[in-house]
Amino acid sequence: MPKTKKSQRRVRKISEKRLFDKYDLYLKSVQSPDVDVVFFRKVYRELRKKEPKIFREDFCGTFTLSCEWVKLNPKYQAYGIDLDPEPLEYGRSHYLPRLKENQQKRVCLLEKNVLTPDLPQADIIVAMNFSYFLFKSRMMLKQYFLNVYRSVKKDGIFMLDLFGGSLCQDANEENSKNKNFTYYWDQEDFDPVTHRAKFHIHFKLKGQKKVKNVFTYDWRMWTIPEVREILEEVGFKKTHVYWEGTTRSGTGDGVYTRTEKGEACLAWVAYIAAEK
Ligand SMILES: C[S@@+](CC[C@H](N)C(=O)[O-])C[C@H]1O[C@@H](n2cnc3c(N)ncnc32)[C@H](O)[C@@H]1O
Repeated sequence: MPKTKKSQRRVRKISEKRLFDKYDLYLKSVQSPDVDVVFFRKVYRELRKKEPKIFREDFCGTFTLSCEWVKLNPKYQAYGIDLDPEPLEYGRSHYLPRLKENQQKRVCLLEKNVLTPDLPQADIIVAMNFSYFLFKSRMMLKQYFLNVYRSVKKDGIFMLDLFGGSLCQDANEENSKNKNFTYYWDQEDFDPVTHRAKFHIHFKLKGQKKVKNVFTYDWRMWTIPEVREILEEVGFKKTHVYWEGTTRSGTGDGVYTRTEKGEACLAWVAYIAAEK
């Protein structure tokens, strides 16, 4: 049956809808795994004065960092840990096939809780994209950090990111436009008593309706001193804060260096590296 203009339009609409790939949009909006793994290795070399080999990505989701890690060196190995089979499966079908066969063999995925005892040992363990903010009590966060401490190698490091600033203590929504879509970061509220905050990611593909709450996060906004203290309580010898530099126009320059003094920015992202 020949297609009428109307049915052609419908087919086009359906195929455009299929392009809504939440993990791909997430990768394009908030992740730079190739840059991140080089930074982790630089920090390890700077603190440990030797070469790392084994990398563990806790809360790995689609394990993009693990995929980038094994590309850096033919001896490197990566473990990705996540309890949700959905993002793991996405990574297996979309990102693993992009690696060479010998790189694929060096990525090992475990569908597990990061609190499980006896997780694989590693030189570098990371918890990125603020994932550990899901632990709302000091007791739970400490339990997680202790589990990491036990499995990070003798000369290993543990790296986490965190964010803050006065803008994060208010309800607001910001967006950034990309070529074919808009990304929205929506902070629903912030409770100064509990430091709990709810965030959502929405996306709008060009020419389509905004899809709300594609990802939702119910987090406790941990602060740098709290995280450092808990890391030290579970046994990490030293903790270092990496703070972003500023361009002449006053925006972040993407270069993170060690510091003991930050700046009261409206919004900031920082990293902590803990030495065993
Ligand atoms: C914010 S996403 C981060 C994904 C990825 N790390 C990234 O940077 O894009 C949080 C991930 O943590 C996983 N997760 C939540 N609780 C977990 C737990 N207790 N153990 C392991 N994974 C967990 C979720 O399934 C989800 O994939």
